[in-house]
Amino acid sequence: RNPEKELLYDAYELSAKLYHFLLKNTQHGQDAVSYLRSRGFNDKIIEQFGIGFAPDRWDTMVQFLGKREFDLKEMEKGGLLSARQERDGYVDKFRNRIMFPIHDRNGRVIAFAGRILGEGQPKYLNSPESLLFNKSRTLYNLHQAKASIRKLRQIVLCEGYGDVIATWEAGYQNVVATMGTSLTEQQIAIMKSMAEEVIVSYDGDKAGLQAAMKVLPMLEGAGLRVRIALMGDGMDPDEYYRKYGLERYHHVMNSAVSSTKFKLIYLKKNHILLEEHGKIAYTKEALPIIAELSSSTEREVYLRELSTELHLSYESLKQDCNLLRQSMQ
Ligand code: GTP
Ligand code: MN
Ligand code: MN
Ligand code: MN
Ligand code: MN
Repeated sequence: RNPEKELLYDAYELSAKLYHFLLKNTQHGQDAVSYLRSRGFNDKIIEQFGIGFAPDRWDTMVQFLGKREFDLKEMEKGGLLSARQERDGYVDKFRNRIMFPIHDRNGRVIAFAGRILGEGQPKYLNSPESLLFNKSRTLYNLHQAKASIRKLRQIVLCEGYGDVIATWEAGYQNVVATMGTSLTEQQIAIMKSMAEEVIVSYDGDKAGLQAAMKVLPMLEGAGLRVRIALMGDGMDPDEYYRKYGLERYHHVMNSAVSSTKFKLIYLKKNHILLEEHGKIAYTKEALPIIAELSSSTEREVYLRELSTELHLSYESLKQDCNLLRQSMQ
C-alpha cells in the first residue's frame, strides 16, 4: 500500500462529497442546480452520478483540505489545488464549475471534470494525470456500467459525460465514455475483457462521425463486433434524447448500423450521387469496403443495396468487386 496514494484517494473522496453537498445545500449551488435542471438533469441523476459544484471562490478546497490536515503540496501534485502564480501558497483548481466525479472501475473517485455553467472556455476542465488518474486507462462510468456490460457482453461507447447520463437515463446501464480524447489501446483492452460488442454512440456532428470512422478499425482489430448508433441532425446522444425523448432514442439505438453500413454512409456524404462522376467516385470508394468482407452473403447484401441506390446493375458491381478482391490477395 502506498500511503501517498491512499491519502489522495481520501482527499478525492472527501472533495467529491463536499462538492456534492455544496451543490445541493448552499446558496452558491443554486445557479448550478438551475443550470443542471435546464439541461434536464433531475435529482435522481444528480445523486446517481454524484454531481457537485465548485463555488466561485479561490479557497474552498484550500480551507477544507487544510483543516483536515492534508499536505497542500501533495494536493497540488494530486490535482485538487493549483500553486499560486505570484507568491507562495495554493488556490483551488476548480472554481464556479459543475463537478463530475470520475471514478476508477472499483468506484473510487480519481479525478474530476469541471464544466463551466453555460458558455465559455475551457468548457471542461479536467484533473491532471496523477498517482490515481491515468486518463488513457479510464472510461467514465465504468464502475456503474460493468455489471450490465458483463451481463449483456455489450458496451455503449459515448464521447462525453452528458451523453453517458442521458443514455443511462434512457435505460442503458452499459454505457461509458472516453471523455473527449481519442480511444486508446488500453481502453479497448478493458472493453475487450468484458464484452463482445460495442455500440459506438458518438456525436452526430462532423468531428463525431470522423472519430467514429477512426475507432472502427481499432475496435474490430481487437476482435470486438461494432455497431454505430446514428444521431441525426448533428446532435449528440444527450441532445437527441432531450429533444426527441425515450422512444425515438430507443429506436436510434436499436437501429445501430453495421460498421460496413456506417462506412458507406460516411463516404456517401462527400458525393453528389445525381451526377455521373459523383456516382462513379462513390462507387470507387464503396467497392473496396465491400470487397474486403470475407462473407459472400454479406457482400451480396451491400452490393444489392448499392445497386438499387445508384441504379447500377448488380452484375457489373459484383464484377468490379470480384476484380478488386483478386487484386487484394
Ligand atoms: P456538453 O456541452 O456539456 O453537453 O458537453 P459535450 O460532452 O457535448 O462536449 P463535446 O461534444 O464538445 O465534447 C465531448 C467530450 O470532449 C466532452 O464530454 C469532454 O469529455 C471533452 N471535452 C470537450 N470540451 C473540452 C474541453 O474544453 N476540455 C477538456 N479537457 N475536455 C473537453
Ligand atoms: Mn447524495
Ligand atoms: Mn462534440
Ligand atoms: Mn457532445
Ligand atoms: Mn453534449
